[in-house]
Amino acid sequence: MTNKKEEMDRTIKEKLAPKKFIKNPINGTKFTLLISSAKGGVGKSTIAVNLAFALQNLGMKVGILDADVYGPSLPKLINLNKKPESKDGKAMLPLEKYDAQCMSMGFLVEEQTPMIWRGPMVISALKTMTQKVLWKDRDVIVIDMPPGTGDTQLTFAQEVKIDGAIIVSTPQDLALLDVKRGIQMFDKTGVKIFGLIDNMSFFKGDDGKEYKIFGEGGVEKTAKEFNKNFLGKIPLNEDLRNSADKGDPLTHSDPDHEVSKIFINIAEKIKQAFQ
Ligand SMILES: Nc1ncnc2c1ncn2[C@@H]1O[C@H](COP(=O)(O)OP(=O)(O)OP(=O)(O)O)[C@@H](O)[C@H]1O
Ligand SMILES: [Mg+2]
Repeated sequence: MTNKKEEMDRTIKEKLAPKKFIKNPINGTKFTLLISSAKGGVGKSTIAVNLAFALQNLGMKVGILDADVYGPSLPKLINLNKKPESKDGKAMLPLEKYDAQCMSMGFLVEEQTPMIWRGPMVISALKTMTQKVLWKDRDVIVIDMPPGTGDTQLTFAQEVKIDGAIIVSTPQDLALLDVKRGIQMFDKTGVKIFGLIDNMSFFKGDDGKEYKIFGEGGVEKTAKEFNKNFLGKIPLNEDLRNSADKGDPLTHSDPDHEVSKIFINIAEKIKQAFQ
């Protein structure tokens, strides 16, 4: 009788205990880097892809995982749209472009197909993307996150082993509010934040002057406020946008460009943070 009661007590205790998450590593890579921002349209995908090739420029073997299930950008950003192969119908081989291994939901569905999925389906797709891709021999996988602090972000923060997260923002007050939410989510889930990047920081005119279109200094100030590193400022730049539209990221097509050099400088800091 007492045994049964003890057993019931134990079961109830286990059920009520806060859920412990196991953080599974992504196989086939030494390091995993998240590029994130709670705000949409601030340049996460542009920065993820350009940072990946900046890290490649420093001699690292890179992979890029597009975790935006609803709005994948990777196929367009690297001009690649093929179906990944699978030998056993379960695990997939990543595609390869510019010596980077790549995976995106966009390779698996038609471009025009709207993703009308509920949360559990998204989580199941993310499990496939993190556990069933046969990455090989990578130094780092750069993950391009969707905007927000929803299912995708929580799944990555709680259930995937992440070495570091980078938060991207524009200097606008509106964007910074979301950045603060993002910082708190990573802090709460024990994901190390490598630092913040200020994107569309300024526009350099033909007159050589820097125009601060979205305001000034806000990202650096937020980094200080939350005791995080400030990694650098990326200008609003036509060549960066053009190369993205062409499907050949600037840090790959023109690593000597002044904007590529800023990315490479940030990549050096990231590489050091991995040590
Ligand atoms: N520094 C920049 N200079 C010029 N254009 C930029 C810059 N950063 C981003 N863009 C452009 O801004 C748009 C939004 O960028 P991007 O898609 O990278 O943002 P995102 O944060 O990934 O968006 P989403 O939240 O939808 O995933 C794109 O058209 C991109 O080419
Ligand atoms: Mg994006």
